[in-house]
Amino acid sequence: MSYKISKLDNFGRGITYVNDKITFIPNTLPDEEITLNITEEKSQYQVGEVNTFIKESPLRIKPLCPYYPKCGGCELMHTSYANTIALKKTKVNEIFENLYPDIEFAASPEPLHYRNKITLKVQNNQLGYYSGRTHKLIPIQECFLAHPAINKVIPLLNKLNIGNGEVTIRCNYNAEILLSIASNNHLNLKEDLTTYKIVGIVQNDQVIYGEDHFIDIINHHLYEISYNSFFQINPYITSIIFKDISNSIPDNSKILDLYCGVGSIGIACSPKAQQLYGVEIIPNAILNALKNAQINHVANASYHLGEVANIINKIPEDIDTVIVDPPRKGLDQLTIKTILEMHPSTLIYMSCDPQTLKRDLLKLQEKYQIQSMKAYDMFPYTYHIECLCILNLK
Ligand SMILES: C[S@@+](CC[C@H](N)C(=O)[O-])C[C@H]1O[C@@H](n2cnc3c(N)ncnc32)[C@H](O)[C@@H]1O
Repeated sequence: MSYKISKLDNFGRGITYVNDKITFIPNTLPDEEITLNITEEKSQYQVGEVNTFIKESPLRIKPLCPYYPKCGGCELMHTSYANTIALKKTKVNEIFENLYPDIEFAASPEPLHYRNKITLKVQNNQLGYYSGRTHKLIPIQECFLAHPAINKVIPLLNKLNIGNGEVTIRCNYNAEILLSIASNNHLNLKEDLTTYKIVGIVQNDQVIYGEDHFIDIINHHLYEISYNSFFQINPYITSIIFKDISNSIPDNSKILDLYCGVGSIGIACSPKAQQLYGVEIIPNAILNALKNAQINHVANASYHLGEVANIINKIPEDIDTVIVDPPRKGLDQLTIKTILEMHPSTLIYMSCDPQTLKRDLLKLQEKYQIQSMKAYDMFPYTYHIECLCILNLK
């Protein structure tokens, strides 16, 4: 029996119907016809895999990466980069159909080797990604999404005696490497770490070599980043997003940067700020933000450690512009209620999950109208989509 893929779902999987039941098939493209095997059966839906292709899409290509799709790191490497953009543009416009028309989609200036951070699992000294939603390790020697400096260090990590655990590899504008390792093994640090430009190794939150932070640069602003602070993972598209955010802020604003991480967005907008406040839950990120205000000569900034929901109403000033950049789960009820009560004239919402963004926009519409909305390919070859929404008080 052959089945036709109608379109992709929000996770980049093809959608077809088997006996009227919605069925998701990874690694397929719209209009492809396949025979399939069911791999997971649920009451409301099922997941399957391609058995044979009856008709392949002309837009299908041979994946560049030898580990695709087994390693689970990307979902869309079976088509051209241009087509991934077309598919994601269709998806984002479908999600926001009744909220904003014809959303522009900006491609990443670098579609491959863009990631400044990857986390690899380690089992018996072998490094790799877990396949799909399993704990089956797919050993890798390189990742096509990772910066070349990250790939260069992977062979060294195989020799460090990590044993079992996890390693997060970060690199900066200067191809320096910062490692954070979760493992109870005694590491072998006899290798020449300077060859790989390793500036620091942190094991189980303790520095065991060099520093616990390094400096990165976006649009001429310097950012100190600790091993456990958040930083945007694609510096090429981040540079564009930060310019777009700064351009949308009125001059001389009192800006509140919620979920501020190391202070990156607020500092990027500091030329527009009469006063800048930041709120963030990770202590090291707040220390980074204080340092970053100093090294970027932003004198009018103050930072507050804690949960946004608890701190937002303790900000003393009348705020004109609120920037929110929450994790995937979006804004909680209390934060939305407090923003509506504060009613800043401009509200800027940067989001890495269009579904939670849509949910929150429907609530914010009580007092705000969408002035503009744009999507960005922060995560090429994966299903993820970054959105920026500029809202004005009605
Ligand atoms: C998507 S990141 C954005 C960081 C920053 N805006 C940037 O561009 O680098 C979300 C940040 O929110 C922080 N965070 C998550 N939940 C939080 C909460 N309830 N209150 C305060 N900060 C939170 C995370 O630690 C992370 O730094």
